[in-house]
Parts: sequence; C-alpha cells; structure tokens
Amino acid sequence: MAAESRPYSETNATRARAPDQAPAPDVVIIGAGVCGLGIAWRLAQRGLAVTVLDQGALGAAASWVAGGMLAACAEAEPGEEELVRLGRHAQRLWPGFATELLEATSIDVDLRTEGTLVVAPTADERARLLHHHAFQTGLGLTLDWLTPAEVRRREPHLAAGITGAVFSPEDHQVATRSLTTALIRAAERAGVTLRPHTAVARIVVENGRATGVELSDGTRIAAGTVVLAAGAWSRGIEGVAPAARPPVRPIKGQVIVLKMDAAAPLLTHVLWAPGCYLVPRRDGHLILGATVEEKGFDTAITAGGIFALLEAAWRVLPAIEELPIVDTVVGHRPGSRDDAPILGASEVPGLVYATGHHRNGILLAPVTADAVARLVAGEGTDPAIAAFGMERFAAKAAA
Ligand code: GLY
Repeated sequence: MAAESRPYSETNATRARAPDQAPAPDVVIIGAGVCGLGIAWRLAQRGLAVTVLDQGALGAAASWVAGGMLAACAEAEPGEEELVRLGRHAQRLWPGFATELLEATSIDVDLRTEGTLVVAPTADERARLLHHHAFQTGLGLTLDWLTPAEVRRREPHLAAGITGAVFSPEDHQVATRSLTTALIRAAERAGVTLRPHTAVARIVVENGRATGVELSDGTRIAAGTVVLAAGAWSRGIEGVAPAARPPVRPIKGQVIVLKMDAAAPLLTHVLWAPGCYLVPRRDGHLILGATVEEKGFDTAITAGGIFALLEAAWRVLPAIEELPIVDTVVGHRPGSRDDAPILGASEVPGLVYATGHHRNGILLAPVTADAVARLVAGEGTDPAIAAFGMERFAAKAAA
C-alpha cells in the first residue's frame, strides 16, 4: 500500500518495528492542553494506542490560565459567523462532555450555568453595546438587553453608574483547572501514555508522509499519525515545509486571581466590561483577565498590565478593591491569522492539525476532541470543522 493512501486509522499491528523496541503508538499528539488531551481520550476510547508529549507539565500552559468562558454568543464579532456556528455547536456538546468526564474520573468540572453579563459603564459604551447587540441578535443569538436597574438586580455590587447591559443566557463557564485535571485522569484511565517534559524538536517526514516525531534529545517515536496540538508553540515544531507550519503566534495574556468570600460572593455571573472580564468560581476565586499583548513568549507580569485590569474591573465592580490578590499568571493564546482554529488534515499525509484556538480553546475542546479523533480514526471529516482547515489561508491568499 502506498504511504499516502494509508488510512489515518492504521494501527501498529500493521507497522513493522525493530526487535526489542517498545511498540510504537498509533498516534502521537504534540501538546497536552485540553485539546490534545481530549483528542487522546477520544482516540483511546476507540482502542487506539496514543502517546501525548508536552514540553512542560501536563495541561500547564494556556489551558491552566484560561478563564473558562464558553462564550459563543457574547463574544460574536462581525466576520466570525462560521466561528460562531462552531462555538454554538461546542456549547451544545458541553453538558454531555462534562457529565462524561465526571463519570470517567469523578471530577466535577463545575459547568456553571448562570450566564454572562456584558456591562456598559458610560453612555458611549452603551451606544457601542447596543450596536453590537443588534448585530448579535441579527445572527439569531439569544441575548437580552437589560436596563441599569435590571442588571443591578442580578448583580447588586455593580457600580451605580452602569448605563445598560446585555445578558447572554447560554454563555456559561467551566473551572479550567478541574477540567485539565479531569482530562489527564480520563486519558490515563483510557490507556493513553502521557509524557510531560518531553519536547518535540521536529516531525519526522519520510517519503512525503509524517511517520513520527523526533524529540529534542534525538530519540524518535514512530506513529501512524501525528497530531499537532501544541497551542502557541505549534509553528515552532520543525520537520515540515514552511507552508505546512500552521500560522499560529503567541498572544500574551496576564491574569489576576482574586479571592471572594465563597459564601457571599461579590459576583455570580461571568462579567464582561471594557478592558476586562471577571469569572467567579464556586470556591470563591475570581479570575480577572486578561491583557491581549503581541509580545511573543514574554512571561513578565507588568505593572501596566495589572493596573489596566484592576482599573477596568474597579470601574464596574468597585468592591474588588477589598479583595486579596492570591495569584497572577501569564498564558499564551495560540492566535491564528484569522483568530479561528486550524483543524483537520494537513498537506503532509499522516499529520493532522488541532491548533490556533486563540481565545476559544476551552469552549472548543469538546468539538475539537470529537472531530479530530473522528478524522484520525478514519471516520471522515466532521462537517462542524470543514470550514477550519489550513487550506483556507491559501484560498484567501489566492483570492
Ligand atoms: N478567552 C479568554 C481570553 O482569551 O482571555
């Protein structure tokens, strides 16, 4: 059989290996964030042998820092109609995904369903929000306009000067650290081999086909399929031609973690305001994010970043000034050229992309896991991801 015509589902039983070597996995996944782990779990459930490699600790990069907002509606922007469809599809998958993780691991990822508020602190912001609301409802999204009195009834600690708000009843949140922990456990229990602190130097391509990876210490791992799910680091993995490297760059985000009284929380909804968002966790943590910075892989917590977040949050929720800061963290979103994920087959047979999720990695984790596992297992392309292939960039360049 020609290498190019091998199905993604080819298993090790059909591949030769040198004597005394450990069996090579069917699939190697580069990146142990929520997307890589989710794909691994889904593939292991199908009986495939899967190894996940990560240069750092498992689930410790963007997935660990993420706010966990499942915001397909409130964040819908003009020009992102396909992404909104994908996000809405992912929102529908989330309850089942959370339940399945609970059953597999006994870890509750705390899918909170209070919804999201977007508030306008000034008349100018109110006009902008009204305009945006008209666009979003024009897409058929359910978003309710609230008067200042109505929004303060829902969140009594909001600043008195709020001029209006949008309520998004279907944009929820999950506790991201519980989610990564659950996915690690689910993958392990399903038989996935997890290898943290194992950096991949390059994808090995032989006779035009990806046949595995080479680690930074020079050892090779052969596999029938390589899945590139390395988030912001995806473009830096060598071995394929420049055109096959996904156009993904790091977009730095600084985040402050505050602590509320869990018994009497200052906030119960996810809250968006100009310059920040606030995500209240059930245990009292209040996630205040996030800067959006083009600074490569810079990891500095800066006075300017912290000041901007605190000032933006204080304008709408003044009582945060009483809260202790318990942590500050930095993450790097994998931003693609059009801010949408890159999902599906590459021009190199045997190499599949699951990267470029930018602000939506947590929201899109269930659909990424399902659709990429389906593709790798030889079950065809899920229509949900058909618009998100790498080929769209070439098509746009040619247009
Ligand atoms: N999705 C939240 C962020 O990117 O900051």
